[in-house]
Amino acid sequence: MIRALLPEDEETVLTVWLKALAECPNAFSEDEESVKRRTPGRWGAQLRSSPMYGHFDGSVLGGLIGVGLSERNKKKHLAGIGPLYVAPSYRGKGIAMALFNHAVSQLPPEVEELRLGVDANNPGALALYEKLGFTVWGTEKRSIKLPDGSYCDVLWMNRKR
Ligand SMILES: CC(C)(COP(=O)(O)OP(=O)(O)OC[C@H]1O[C@@H](n2cnc3c(N)ncnc32)[C@H](O)[C@@H]1OP(=O)(O)O)[C@@H](O)C(=O)NCCC(=O)NCCS
Repeated sequence: MIRALLPEDEETVLTVWLKALAECPNAFSEDEESVKRRTPGRWGAQLRSSPMYGHFDGSVLGGLIGVGLSERNKKKHLAGIGPLYVAPSYRGKGIAMALFNHAVSQLPPEVEELRLGVDANNPGALALYEKLGFTVWGTEKRSIKLPDGSYCDVLWMNRKR
């Protein structure tokens, strides 16, 4: 079942999110230390401008997706997609696709275009986004610097709603 994540899901979401950051440091710009430093309740407060949806297997959160919306009138035609994460044991079952389609179905009517960034060395995610109709419009070199001093380039992709 896919449903909107709520402020009261914070603990469940943070547990999954910390696992995601540990498993895939290149895939997301956030890091575990910054998440642990966050004031409790802050995540829930962000949900209004950045809604999130979760795939639940009973009470187990198997995957999540976030959507970034702007409160600025001149930016309301754009929505950012991400983060997107599906736990390893739930992969390959169409859950990322279902999370994405659900998130799009919940977008405000004024959104015209979807944008996202993906690590240039993440072929699985790239294949998923291409299947969803996204194309690359730019490359951000050295977008992420990892603790070992290496850099990741990010491909920026978009598609019409
Ligand atoms: C990328 C990720 C979200 C895919 O989740 P998923 O639920 O397994 O994806 P789906 O089952 O919905 O896949 C849908 C389609 O995407 C493509 N795809 C997904 N994962 C892929 C992979 N590892 N390699 C190649 N293609 C892949 C396939 O075309 C697939 O369709 P198919 O199964 O009919 O071939 C998941 O592997 C994940 O969370 N990875 C780690 C975090 C990450 O990279 N997030 C994205 C950050 S931008």
